[in-house]
Amino acid sequence: MPTTTQSQNAPTTRRRLSIGAIIAIILLFLIVLAGLAILIAWLTIRPKRLVYSIENASIRNYNLTNGHLKSDFMFTIRAYNPNSRVSIYYDKIEAKAYYDEEMIGFNSIQPFYQRTRNVTHMGLNLSAKDVALSEVATRDLRMERVRGRIDLEIKVKAKVRFKVGKLKSRHRTLRVTCGPVKVPMSMYKNFDNTPCDVDL
Ligand SMILES: *[C@@H]1O[C@H](CO)[C@@H](O)[C@H](O)[C@H]1NC(C)=O
Ligand SMILES: *[C@@H]1O[C@H](CO)[C@@H](O)[C@H](O)[C@H]1NC(C)=O
Ligand SMILES: *[C@@H]1O[C@H](CO)[C@@H](O)[C@H](O)[C@H]1NC(C)=O
Ligand SMILES: *[C@@H]1O[C@H](CO)[C@@H](O)[C@H](O)[C@H]1NC(C)=O
Repeated sequence: MPTTTQSQNAPTTRRRLSIGAIIAIILLFLIVLAGLAILIAWLTIRPKRLVYSIENASIRNYNLTNGHLKSDFMFTIRAYNPNSRVSIYYDKIEAKAYYDEEMIGFNSIQPFYQRTRNVTHMGLNLSAKDVALSEVATRDLRMERVRGRIDLEIKVKAKVRFKVGKLKSRHRTLRVTCGPVKVPMSMYKNFDNTPCDVDL
């Protein structure tokens, strides 16, 4: 008798188990497949870091009188998008110049669209319009002027969107910090290309 009950029960248990197992295997397979698809998409699209540098800088109409600075600072920013699948919308770009941590100039840059693997040069005109400097900054600036160059820090903040195929990302804030940018007082001096830190 015990042998017959065993032979009657065993097949049903095995059948029930195998249906559950099949569903579990299918689910697992689908999850693995979805994960693989995401991984492959990420690996092929994977955004590379944007590369920024200051390529040129010059000073015009420099006038430091009684601790007040009036001057035009001209920069050429190089923006490189190394990605072959990701293009970038620069919707809003703001740039600031700092001397001794004091903001001396502010300007915005024309929005633009940057294609894949593109290098774009941006001209930037930052003017100090009668900026009151601290005593320390005034003294430092006089000394640097005699030395022949002024060390500034340039900060760029941009609202960007990324585009992959037809998909566009939401707005993200890109922060670029360049410094020290050694701006020569004389037009005839060479300028050292200055790399920037990029934070996204
Ligand atoms: C840098 O700017 C100065 C002054 O505007 C200009 O004379 C010079 O040709 C520029 N150099 C480069 C490499 O663009
Ligand atoms: C510099 O600015 C001061 C005060 O604004 C002005 O009196 C002076 O004429 C300016 N100097 C030059 C060379 O422009
Ligand atoms: C980058 O894009 C700009 C604007 O679309 C274009 O003027 C420039 O020639 C491009 N540069 C390169 C290196 O592709
Ligand atoms: C830079 O901006 C100042 C004031 O905003 C202006 O006077 C000057 O002509 C500009 N320089 C260039 C080269 O655009």
